[in-house]
Amino acid sequence: MGFRCWLLVITFVLSMGFHCELAEAHGQRQPLQSPEAADDGVCTAVVNPQGYECQEYEVKTQDGYILTMHRIPQARGGGSAGKRQPVLLQHGVLMDGLTWLLNPPQQSLAFVLADNGFDVWITHGRGTRWSRRHESLDTSDPAYWAWSWDELASYDLPATVGLVFQQTGQKLHYVGHSMGTLTALSAFSEGKLVDKIKSAALLSPVAYLTYMTTPIGIAAASAFSGETLGALGVAEFDPKGAVGTNFLESVCAMPGVNCYDLMASFTGPNCCLNDSTVNVYLKYELQPTSVRTLVHFSQTFRRGGITKYDYGSSMANMAAYGESSPPEYHISNIPHDLPLLLSYGGGDMLSDVKDVQLLLNDLRNHDADKLVAQLVEEYAHLDFVMGVNAKQVVYDGLIAFFYKHS
Ligand SMILES: *[C@@H]1O[C@H](CO)[C@@H](O)[C@H](O)[C@H]1NC(C)=O
Repeated sequence: MGFRCWLLVITFVLSMGFHCELAEAHGQRQPLQSPEAADDGVCTAVVNPQGYECQEYEVKTQDGYILTMHRIPQARGGGSAGKRQPVLLQHGVLMDGLTWLLNPPQQSLAFVLADNGFDVWITHGRGTRWSRRHESLDTSDPAYWAWSWDELASYDLPATVGLVFQQTGQKLHYVGHSMGTLTALSAFSEGKLVDKIKSAALLSPVAYLTYMTTPIGIAAASAFSGETLGALGVAEFDPKGAVGTNFLESVCAMPGVNCYDLMASFTGPNCCLNDSTVNVYLKYELQPTSVRTLVHFSQTFRRGGITKYDYGSSMANMAAYGESSPPEYHISNIPHDLPLLLSYGGGDMLSDVKDVQLLLNDLRNHDADKLVAQLVEEYAHLDFVMGVNAKQVVYDGLIAFFYKHS
């Protein structure tokens, strides 16, 4: 059960949802000092016990969502004087800001950045555990869930980046993982945020999904296509809830889908994860998103381009966009002098190397000294945030890149 569960859960990280009995699989509890206390808050349960100062903020998006952010303003033990550059960490889909805090301090990006002189800001996207409030809507109201990753790019990002900019009076460095890269690229391509960003590091960059061709991926993508969408409508996708459970059961029952062999056949082999961290991840880190976000990913996979959410009829698209088809994001419009670092894995079957090459092709006119692309042959999707050697393999270079573009 544990192994199957683990394999299934990896598939969550991009856009495919599955459910398994996590509690059953993982009796013992580990790394977070007191994981169940995480409900008391990230600062007291996770950050303070490691010896770091921690502050909590909230920010309201233009469309009324109230998001929580956490800040680690100093190195471990506190106190070096002098101005620290802000960095914002944006997690991927079906995860939250704990993404950056799961390993011991010398391995987790948030702590590593704090210890290297940065002022670290961690976001939690709408709908995830600490960001489930809205000025007028409740999460039980379907209208709360009427968004896809377009809104994460056009509302959540400007709100969180804006708060950091306002609080620190400085432009910031950005780190995104998985969907956190897609939302940034989309926003940058429309000229948003670029006046507040010094540089961006994109880990497991996701834009095109053309080459995500594994049986389970195709099955999930078709399950989130328009035909079955009617049954779900505008709703929450809670991987641990009834919708998630039913979805898993139906996908695993499809011909050609072997739910016992997902590691090899879908996500690619993560080389370097710590079992204790994985247990915590499985137990605490499967966060809800909107069904519409998964449908949007499914559209990206099936059509090949990078466009806004397709409402499914020319009339509905006309109402939303003033055009009968959803508008495209033009990645090549990203300002050519915006420093970008892309780090991608040779074994990552969600952010496939061929799809990253499509993305790099869109960036071919980028200023050569402002674009770094690093292929880590042995890495898959989760190694970039949870790999025990990610500091040596990825983060040291990322920090050097941030220093260079300060
Ligand atoms: C794995 O995580 C545990 C708990 O945080 C830690 O004690 C251990 O040192 C880690 N192992 C490695 C190889 O980093």
